[in-house]
Amino acid sequence: MPSNQQILLDNRPQGEASAGNFRLVTSDTPPLQDGQVLVRHHFLSLDPYMRGRMNDGKSYAQPQALGEVMGGGTAGEVVESRSDRYRLGDKVVGMGGWQQYSVVDATKPGAMRKVDTTQVPLSHYLGAVGMPGVTAWYGLVRICEPKAGDTMVVSAATGAVGSAFAALSKARGCHTVGIAGGPDKCRYATQELGFDECIDYKQHADALSLSRALKIACPKGIDGYFENVGGMVLDAVLPRMNTFGRIAVCGMISGYDGAPIPLANPQLILVSRLKVQGFIVGEHKEDWPAALAELAGLVGSGKLRPRESIAEGLAAAPEAFLGLLKGRNFGKQLVKLA
Ligand SMILES: NC(=O)c1ccc[n+]([C@@H]2O[C@H](COP(=O)([O-])OP(=O)(O)OC[C@H]3O[C@@H](n4cnc5c(N)ncnc54)[C@H](OP(=O)(O)O)[C@@H]3O)[C@@H](O)[C@H]2O)c1
Repeated sequence: MPSNQQILLDNRPQGEASAGNFRLVTSDTPPLQDGQVLVRHHFLSLDPYMRGRMNDGKSYAQPQALGEVMGGGTAGEVVESRSDRYRLGDKVVGMGGWQQYSVVDATKPGAMRKVDTTQVPLSHYLGAVGMPGVTAWYGLVRICEPKAGDTMVVSAATGAVGSAFAALSKARGCHTVGIAGGPDKCRYATQELGFDECIDYKQHADALSLSRALKIACPKGIDGYFENVGGMVLDAVLPRMNTFGRIAVCGMISGYDGAPIPLANPQLILVSRLKVQGFIVGEHKEDWPAALAELAGLVGSGKLRPRESIAEGLAAAPEAFLGLLKGRNFGKQLVKLA
């Protein structure tokens, strides 16, 4: 059995997360039992939710245990099998964690799934045709309730979730506006992802200035807002929301390192009679098949061309993860392991 590099959570962050919170170790992969398969990971997915799991506080997800392999989504290949469900060479997606190999109990429902890489590259199953893509689909379709002619806005527009948003929103006939950090990301949003407009929030010193830019980009107001960051961006969006608008609260990354992100004008939720709804995509499994089918179709037809930021080798994972929390990723953040 091959030796296996792994990254463990060594200690919990005090304030900002740092590389010192993680520890790289090498161990032997155990021999397979009946029903188990050995998966060699080709890609590890890095996702903002991992920051929440590094804390011990109240959250919708269980805290990551200290001294154990960091959890995370993986895409890879079966390299040994003692299961009649999986053969050598099968491409699979699962929750293998921050390590090169995982031993998976193939009898456990939902432990992993086979994927078809003839139309969709393996790595996209961790992004546009995986959890982040379904997240964009669920928040848009089920919470923002887009109708043709509506205006839909998303923050972190070029990230893993945001980048799937434009193709889905445009397919429903909506004026679609992104908010992202920097001119390169905004250019990519309009030229490659299909956004009608993209606003660079870093060009705006405060919420008032950003809100004025939103007024120009959204002349008919905002009907649906997909929130990924919180803080100043949410303060800028709220005054632009139309009466009976819908806000899907997907993430609030600007507060993940523990800094308070107070809301300046919560009364606007009442004044504009807004629906504001948080959601966790893993709790809506009933919608995954329809969402994945639409996303795979968009990727297959070239209407959705997701970009990836790829770090090389497991040892690069902590820095890549810290970069994700600072917006240094450009597209879905992955680590290439094989
Ligand atoms: N509810 C759910 O089930 C669910 C599932 C998946 C993801 N999420 C959430 O969805 C959001 C996006 O996730 P993702 O995987 O697609 O990540 P991502 O957008 O690929 O990467 C995070 C992006 O957030 C932006 N960002 C980082 N720090 C920021 C800050 N302080 N202020 C403003 N923007 C900041 C950066 O983009 P810019 O450079 O453009 O600022 C960065 O590239 C996250 O909040 C995540 O927690 C929720």
